Amino acid sequence: MKALVLAGGAGTRLRPLTHTSAKQLVPVANKPILFYGLEQIRDAGIRDVGIIVGETEPAIRAAIGDGSAFGISATYLRQDRPLGLAHAVLTAEEYLDGDDFVMFLGDNLIEGGIGDLVTSFVADRPAAQLLLKRVADPQRFGIAVLDDDGCIERLVEKPSEPPSDLALVGVYIFTSEILDAARQLEPSWRGELEITDAIQSLVEQGAAVRASIVDGWWLDTGKKDELLDANRIVLGTVERRIDGEVDGDSEVVGNVVVERGARLVSTTVRGPAVIGSGSRLEDVFIGPFTSVAAECALTRCEIEYSVLLEGCSISDVPRIEGSLLGRDVTISRTERRPSAHRLTLGDHSQLEITEG
Ligand code: G1P
Repeated sequence: MKALVLAGGAGTRLRPLTHTSAKQLVPVANKPILFYGLEQIRDAGIRDVGIIVGETEPAIRAAIGDGSAFGISATYLRQDRPLGLAHAVLTAEEYLDGDDFVMFLGDNLIEGGIGDLVTSFVADRPAAQLLLKRVADPQRFGIAVLDDDGCIERLVEKPSEPPSDLALVGVYIFTSEILDAARQLEPSWRGELEITDAIQSLVEQGAAVRASIVDGWWLDTGKKDELLDANRIVLGTVERRIDGEVDGDSEVVGNVVVERGARLVSTTVRGPAVIGSGSRLEDVFIGPFTSVAAECALTRCEIEYSVLLEGCSISDVPRIEGSLLGRDVTISRTERRPSAHRLTLGDHSQLEITEG
């Protein structure tokens, strides 16, 4: 069995971060989302991983290399245009070479890995093995309707009037039958060849399509609030580890990781939280569910429920919450006149300001 990991796509909903990087490389608990999936694929015993890439190919290649750091063998497959998930499968046809494969969307995170999914597939070898999860906003996903016996009756992509609340999780296992189905597709209303439509045509042909409902969490990290939520959930699984320096005036409470080379001076960190290597924190409060990446410099500030990427510099800011800061962001207080906010923000930045 091979794996096909989808790491193309523009990531428009995570702008401005995705103007300069790939959405699959945005970190959750200081680790790129994509790495969790690659580790789960490896843990399921799969070595050959095709990685579908688009315009962000250089960033994805730089992060994964030949895959050996993850215990996999990575092959990059360029999808010229983002024409849909089924188009990505067709792009990989030669690489897949008729083998069964796990298809894993690179911005999805699932609890507990894919071992059970692989085991169920291997037992019966259906044409498609799917994972479903009940969601509150089914219009945003591929949706499955099950019959009274729990078998798939029908699948529909992003319905305006959802017939159920069972969403298709972005992790699937297919035999090569999916390629024949994908070849027959017409583009959907959003101009894409939908994998959901390809699976629906397998159902119509009477092929075996199996699904199980996942108990654990499933995170689709397409937007800021989802990313912060993913960060909260994944931080909830970290164990305390203090490898950096913590001075006598600092307090580190609960499940907190302080990486080697990080330094805390007169700082309180209330976990769960992670502080990346080389980061310096002085007179700072870090509240729960916060990830501070490497090489950040924080002084006299309070930060909670937020994700900071590498190299951020923040000083004299009373409180930052619910925030996602890209690389090398600087926020500081100034006494300079005129007294005003002076901003340099990238395209699609969002700022909410309160006085006081
Ligand atoms: C895709 C699939 C959808 C699935 C979702 C899971 O949506 O088309 O069926 O439920 O991934 O993340 P997209 O990310 O293309 O909006």
